[in-house]
Parts: sequence; C-alpha cells; structure tokens
Amino acid sequence: MSQIIVGNANATTARRYVVLVSGRGSNLSAILAASKPEQCAAVISNRADAGALEIARTQGIATAVVPHQDYATRNLFDSALADVVARYTPDLVVMAGFMRILGEQFINRFEGHTINIHPSLLPAFPGVRTHARALEAGVRTHGCTVHLVTSELDAGPIIAQTSVPVLAGDDVAALSARVLVEEHRLYPRVVQDWLAGKLDQRLRELAVREC
Ligand code: GRF
Repeated sequence: MSQIIVGNANATTARRYVVLVSGRGSNLSAILAASKPEQCAAVISNRADAGALEIARTQGIATAVVPHQDYATRNLFDSALADVVARYTPDLVVMAGFMRILGEQFINRFEGHTINIHPSLLPAFPGVRTHARALEAGVRTHGCTVHLVTSELDAGPIIAQTSVPVLAGDDVAALSARVLVEEHRLYPRVVQDWLAGKLDQRLRELAVREC
C-alpha cells in the first residue's frame, strides 16, 4: 500500500504511518520529532480528551476520534476504527499508548502492518502494571519491546527491544521513567526503519518463523 504524494513537480513515493493513541502522547512526540512532516498521515484516538491529539493538532497533523463507547460491541468499534484508519491509506499503523485491545475486525485488515510498544521485555509481563510486576518479581533487567500486533495480546513477533537495569531502591515511578527514555529512542527508530524498508527482510523472517 504505498502512497503517491502529488502536487509537487518531483512527485515521490513515500511510506506513511497513522498513530493510534489514548493518552498523553510522549511516544507520539518522539516519533514525530524523528519524522518528516509528510510521513504522519493522521493521529487517531478512542478518547477525545487524549493529550496526544493536542500534540498532533499543534503540528498541523490530521486527527480523528472514534469513541469506543459509541459502539455497542467491540467488533463494531474495531470495524469503525479500521474504516477511519483505511481512509488515510497508511503503510504502517503505530499503536502508541492506545488502550483498547484490537480484535480481528481490525487486525485482519492491518496485520503485518501494525506495531505496538509495550513497557516490558516481552514475553515477560504482558498486559498492564508491567513496572510494578517487574519490581514484585525482583528482576534485575527490565525494558521495552516493539512488536507486531496480532490477535493475541502483547504476543506478536518481536521486532526490537531495549533493556534497562533495575536499580536498588527503584519504585514504579523511577523504573517507568528509565524505561520511557528508552521507548522514546527505540520506537522512532523502528518507525523510520520500517518506512525506509530496512525492516523488510526482518519482517519476512518473522513471518516465516510464525508459520
Ligand atoms: C507507554 O509506556 C507505552 O509503552 C505504553 O503506553 C504508554 C504510553 O505513553 N503502551 P505515551 O502516551 O506515549 O506517553
């Protein structure tokens, strides 16, 4: 699905992404800071009050809201969200703090083109409260993972990870802040590598391994 950018004498083919958000948008900011303006097609949220939408607006990026509570079932929401995403014909769907589990109505349309960042070294600590659970488990190393999104929660093929040490005296705030610094380095790099086609070989390998 590549997008032809027109309206320019030197029309080029550029890969573009859409970002799904629900919250403050610190990963969105980091991704945008590493992007060319034309690479981000839209920022889409299930929450009208997401801080991330304001970040997008101030940078002149198209935004859309698909409020999950307006849909009677998860399937209906997934399908409405997929329709809105498809309008922007993205090559890549980037989940950045999007707090809804996406079902097959969405995944089937964008599988292999949807990535998520998760604040743990998957497969350790899928789901929520990752930093608290890492501290409770007494692990010495924690971190973040970018993975392909599949219908199984936080279980898709791993694209990239960064680890951080767990230090004596760490609490959830200290540990999550250390991980977040690495998220802001890792996620923009993966997005840019994807758009530049540098991950194509890795994605082919992951697809083979999944079969
Ligand atoms: C990040 O910790 C990310 O790993 C998780 O949700 C959080 C989103 O934070 N999936 P932000 O909205 O990007 O600041």
